[in-house]
Amino acid sequence: MVSLFSGCGGLDLGFKRAGYKILWANDFDKDAQAVYIKNKLGKIDGRDILEIPASEIPDSDILTAGFPCQPFSNAGNRKGVHDSRGMLYRECSRIIGEKLPKVFVFENVKGLLSTKHIDGEKLVDVIYDDLSITGGIGYNVRYKLLNASDYGVPQNRQRVVFVGVRKDLNKTFNFPAPQSKQELKLGKVLDIPIDVPNQVDWGFSPQALEMITHIPEGGSWKNIPYENLAPRFQKIRDDMKKYHSPNFYRRFSRDEIMGTITASAQPENCGIIHPTENRRYTIREIARIQTFPDNFLFIDDNLRDIVAMYKVIGNAVPVRLAEVIALAIKEQVFENIENSLVPEKRGRVECCA
Ligand SMILES: C[S@@+](CC[C@H](N)C(=O)[O-])C[C@H]1O[C@@H](n2cnc3c(N)ncnc32)[C@H](O)[C@@H]1O
Repeated sequence: MVSLFSGCGGLDLGFKRAGYKILWANDFDKDAQAVYIKNKLGKIDGRDILEIPASEIPDSDILTAGFPCQPFSNAGNRKGVHDSRGMLYRECSRIIGEKLPKVFVFENVKGLLSTKHIDGEKLVDVIYDDLSITGGIGYNVRYKLLNASDYGVPQNRQRVVFVGVRKDLNKTFNFPAPQSKQELKLGKVLDIPIDVPNQVDWGFSPQALEMITHIPEGGSWKNIPYENLAPRFQKIRDDMKKYHSPNFYRRFSRDEIMGTITASAQPENCGIIHPTENRRYTIREIARIQTFPDNFLFIDDNLRDIVAMYKVIGNAVPVRLAEVIALAIKEQVFENIENSLVPEKRGRVECCA
């Protein structure tokens, strides 16, 4: 497997657990690299992907890429492809076109589905069409909006996943069926033995701390009396219609499945307040919600920046979701194919050109 935009390795760990061997990974973020190395996922190339010729990337059976989601995120400014980060999927098709892995996997936020390309066409259609013919062979591309909680992840996190299978393999990927949501309630996830590492939290500002004391378990900022709201929230409360009745400062209850953990970990955009204690979730709690195992380490003397750790965890593909997809690909594509099916790539490209 070759892993682009690897982050701290959520997706990579899921694939590794499913039996894949990571040959090469890349991410230019120093904090993500530190976590990736610390947890022995392998070496990680730290360059900007824009500077890496495909010839420097090893051949692989599968290429994965969770290209940056901010330009497409509903939490972001939705500049979409007009933001330079929005064009990073082009780097994926460049590399796939040259390397022709048997399978590729992309993961992205739901907002990708409604993002328009520069010419007005839907970005998702552009990606689909591009990869259907890329490299002269093309891929059978399937994509679907998945909810991580359908696959054993204790979090309602909607993400678009693309799986492309090289056309000469004559296989089309089917997304796995949803699984039971029992056992996913927050109360279970937050029951963490005291000796598990990284149980540290990033403190709220005094203003946020004062406000959350008024929010009961299962509540939100709507429970905070007007006089206890910070002025900027009072302004919103004064004209809820104008601000589309936002649901800030959500404090999920132990009986619920948690909402999406975001990279910013702010109470304005995700339910980051502990159900019963007046604090943000700890690093370990959000790592558990993202299904990282308890021995996966984020904070130690060398990994100093706690805010950066919230970011890399929030950016990750839940490990369990990645594992389910990885196993389905293994079963549907890699089992029962002969190695002799691997085409002599250069020849194949030339013959189709
Ligand atoms: C959504 S995160 C990927 C998370 C990862 N799939 C996981 O499961 O942990 C996107 C990553 O792309 C990286 N990235 C963004 N632009 C990049 C570039 N030009 N070159 C290399 N990495 C880049 C960011 O540092 C970030 O870690």
